[in-house]
Amino acid sequence: MIRPAHRFPLLSRLLHWTMAVLVLAMLFIGIGMVSTVSSRYAQLVAIHKSIGIVILVLVAIRLINRLLNPPPPLPADLPWWQVVAAKASHWVLYLLMFALPLVGWAMLSAAGAPIVVFGAVHLPPILPHDVAMFAVLRAAHTVLALLLFATFLAHLGAALFHALIRRDEVLPSMV
Ligand code: HEM
Ligand code: HEM
Repeated sequence: MIRPAHRFPLLSRLLHWTMAVLVLAMLFIGIGMVSTVSSRYAQLVAIHKSIGIVILVLVAIRLINRLLNPPPPLPADLPWWQVVAAKASHWVLYLLMFALPLVGWAMLSAAGAPIVVFGAVHLPPILPHDVAMFAVLRAAHTVLALLLFATFLAHLGAALFHALIRRDEVLPSMV
């Protein structure tokens, strides 16, 4: 039985798993929509924008929650470099969860395209119309998405290492 002090608070766990599903769905929707030649393209882009903005709101709530409710300590016998890798990768994931929706919103602003979420809410542009800037941000959106996917794979590998090899309290602390 895991000790309560070694478990993430309920809100942290709810946010973690809700956002894990949303972020992974976004990576696959993103790749799917840019690869499709079907009429579903517009529908997928609309879903992509809406979920992306939801992620931006949730990650802001999550960051505040994390500052108010710090995570449980890592196992005391974890080598120092694994502690550094765990902490650094968590901050990279936070950075990317902010950067991707903001770059998505900014690139559509620079393109002069409408930013409509849930078919009704029109968001204001956050950058002036600038085609060269759109090109830079569009490429950045792809690179950041690939970086997010790579960091997630390392994160999943670490979770499996803790659960299956070390058999410590790290995975149960988030379940
Ligand atoms: C965590 C949030 C997000 C993730 C993980 C994500 C991921 C992706 C991925 C993987 C692609 C395909 C990239 C490629 O193959 O070149 C993509 C494209 C795109 N994303 Fe996002 N995205 C996010 C948020 C957003 C937001 C908030 C917006 C806009 C409000 C947005 C707008 C777009 C657009 C317009 C495209 C390109 C569509 C096209 O060129 O046909 N994304 N995104
Ligand atoms: C199957 C998928 C996943 C598993 C098994 C998993 C597992 C875990 C575990 C066990 C922890 C606790 C680590 C610790 O105590 O240091 C954790 C924390 C964390 N995970 Fe995941 N995770 C998954 C998906 C994701 C995804 C997709 C993201 C975001 C892109 C993410 C972001 C984070 C962050 C930022 C933390 C640090 C704690 C926090 O502030 O919420 N995870 N994850």
